[in-house]
Amino acid sequence: MALKITVINGSYRRGGITDQAAEAAAAAARAGGAEVEMIRLAERRVEFCLNCRACTQEPGPARGRCVQRDDMDAILDSIEASSGLILAAPVNFFNVNALTRRFMERLVPYAWWPWGAMAPAPRVKDRKIKAVLITSSAMPSVAGRLLTGSMRALKMMAATLGAKTAGTLFVGLASMEEKPELPARDRRLAERLGRKLL
Ligand SMILES: Cc1cc2nc3c(=O)[nH]c(=O)nc-3n(C[C@H](O)[C@H](O)[C@H](O)COP(=O)(O)O)c2cc1C
Repeated sequence: MALKITVINGSYRRGGITDQAAEAAAAAARAGGAEVEMIRLAERRVEFCLNCRACTQEPGPARGRCVQRDDMDAILDSIEASSGLILAAPVNFFNVNALTRRFMERLVPYAWWPWGAMAPAPRVKDRKIKAVLITSSAMPSVAGRLLTGSMRALKMMAATLGAKTAGTLFVGLASMEEKPELPARDRRLAERLGRKLL
């Protein structure tokens, strides 16, 4: 059976730099024989976490049940059936954009955090899956890595999903044109990331 890879694409727009980089990584994984599911958060219904903590009360390795009835369960089922993840988000106001953040907050069912406990504990630390992380910013990538919390947030997202980070790509200078084209070097790096998941 083919390896399954799920892409969580937090960009607001198709064809932007984040989308092109995520697609390049996905295409390389597909070319290597993987089955890839591209999940564009902008095209799914994902509600906000309500901080009711209903999903964190029961112990055990399985994720808790969220009270929100939206597309999140199907997305998480797809992630749990995968051996690799591509997590992609643009930088907005020095961190991942709000769409990605909203998704990230909905990962709390992967924690056991009963009332009375000061902090959450991960239900499963290592699900034996790999993640590659992609982000993009207007500022150059060196500055972006230093000054923004975007990569850190994506790493936290991977860790919450029990995935080990296998590689990262930070695409800088992404806002110079209305319809930007992913530079060839970044395309090659994205493709290399996609192959790392095989
Ligand atoms: C609301 C907003 C906030 C942004 N904030 C930042 C920022 O803090 N730092 C930065 O370098 N770029 C910032 N940018 C630029 C985006 O990071 C850049 O356009 C991104 O690569 C867009 O990704 P996309 O092509 O996938 O849409 C911002 C853009 C918008 C629209």
